[in-house]
Amino acid sequence: MTKPAWAVEDLSVSFGSQVVLNHVSVSGFPNEIVALVGQNGAGKSTLVKALSGVLPRNAYSGEIWVDGIKRKFSSTAEAASAGVTLVPQELAIVPHLSVASNVFLGREPTRFGIVNDEEMEISSEQILSQFGIKINPKQPAGELGIPQQQIVEIARALSQDASVLILDEPTAPLTVTEAMLLFDCLKQLAEKGLSIIYITHRLDELRNLAKRVVVLRDGKVELDSYMDDIESGEIVTSMIGRSLESLPRQSPNYNSDESVLELTNWSALPQVSRGPGVASINMEVKRGEILGIYGAIGAGRTELLRSIVGAYEGFVSGELRLQGKKNIFSSPAEALAYGVVYISEDRKTLGIQPSMNVQENITLSKLDDYVGFGGLLDRTKEERSTEESIKNLGIVARPKQPMTTLSGGNQQKSLLARALLVKPKILLLDEPTQGVDVAAKLEIVRALVELALNGIAIVMVSSEAEELMSANRIIVMRGGKFVAERKPEFSSVDELVLIATGADTIL
Ligand SMILES: Nc1ncnc2c1ncn2[C@@H]1O[C@H](COP(=O)(O)OP(=O)(O)OP(=O)(O)O)[C@@H](O)[C@H]1O
Ligand SMILES: [Mg+2]
Repeated sequence: MTKPAWAVEDLSVSFGSQVVLNHVSVSGFPNEIVALVGQNGAGKSTLVKALSGVLPRNAYSGEIWVDGIKRKFSSTAEAASAGVTLVPQELAIVPHLSVASNVFLGREPTRFGIVNDEEMEISSEQILSQFGIKINPKQPAGELGIPQQQIVEIARALSQDASVLILDEPTAPLTVTEAMLLFDCLKQLAEKGLSIIYITHRLDELRNLAKRVVVLRDGKVELDSYMDDIESGEIVTSMIGRSLESLPRQSPNYNSDESVLELTNWSALPQVSRGPGVASINMEVKRGEILGIYGAIGAGRTELLRSIVGAYEGFVSGELRLQGKKNIFSSPAEALAYGVVYISEDRKTLGIQPSMNVQENITLSKLDDYVGFGGLLDRTKEERSTEESIKNLGIVARPKQPMTTLSGGNQQKSLLARALLVKPKILLLDEPTQGVDVAAKLEIVRALVELALNGIAIVMVSSEAEELMSANRIIVMRGGKFVAERKPEFSSVDELVLIATGADTIL
């Protein structure tokens, strides 16, 4: 029998009084792709952090084995030299360094002791081209969009000589097209002998990729099975302890004619020439309507939302009308004052306030509401409304918990909770369910449908065509333009993917 490429035995991790991993034993073999799934906060990231040297060696008990040798890593570099490489859940790009330098970070090829930029650029271009998108290796990585940054991180991992490759939700910001290309790469690597651990919340991806699935629930292994021996419904049930209903359909008949937001001849052009930006589009959202926006990476979806709230770094032109009145916002804060709430896809740098706790993060936009007599903050009221948000969205956190210690999905839900407290007129959401587990995704989409039925207009950008089926209308973007508009009931996930990639025009 071949020996496992990696194994954790009796692994336990606690933070304070919270037990996050509870005597977990699991292993993986060479040539094998194991999918690791579970609800937000189940302990997935913690497990792979212990295995890859992110977690200090005294932060866990139990044993870690790599390639038949017992290990206790004290850094990621040490783990990497033993062959274990992690693509972390939260992006770790060095923004001012070039794309090529980011791919080769810490392992730059040298010639006569000098970093060989050219070699670095050529090899990184090669690796990046596997994903079918063009990224200039000389460009500072911080200028790239979030999905492109994710691909740079994956490229960094792929370029290392690893025997165990761990990807923590690599496809969260990617659309189906890029995900498929990534899967091809991963399958090839597995064929060459790599052992891969793949964490995801997109359960539909699993069968395409992994032969085995491991489900964590509340810090314990709930299921460890070959994919062929199990149905998708059973995976969900073992993740959440019950079966799950399907995504709701937005009721088609809010039927208001009241225009909330209207864009005419709207363009957003980048300062330096990269990506198409947004090219002269017209868009209208009505009261109570959910407008879904779909498109591949670089189609201009994020740029569109950012340009509306004054967060776009580039040239914006055209006319914006808010409830019929001409307006223009110079910053998200100004937009917020008009009831236009924007939640960015980049929760790490633009969303959460890392130095604050959960309560402070959630109530941030509404602090005025909690000011009582004498201008003092009414902490009890603030705490009550935080607890309500935590309950409504099923956030796994305590109000006083530091924001950065929440699992990725729970950070995302906290951001949404913050937006909902503002009672917005219009919500602009960029990937609102990114990194959120299946049960929470349903809760979020339900919450959005409910908000729309209360008259709020919602524009929702998503890479998951599936969840856009809960919208009233879906617009597909390509190359900065609106190329198609569909009613969910007369369209399908497959059709949206085809239009987004441009494949419909060649068929
Ligand atoms: N440094 C820390 N301090 C306190 N609690 C922590 C810390 N790191 C993680 N936790 C807690 O441990 C639990 C498990 O977190 P983990 O990040 O492993 O979850 P996850 O399964 O990866 O979830 P997600 O799908 O949301 O990424 C969470 O409840 C989280 O709040
Ligand atoms: Mg995680």
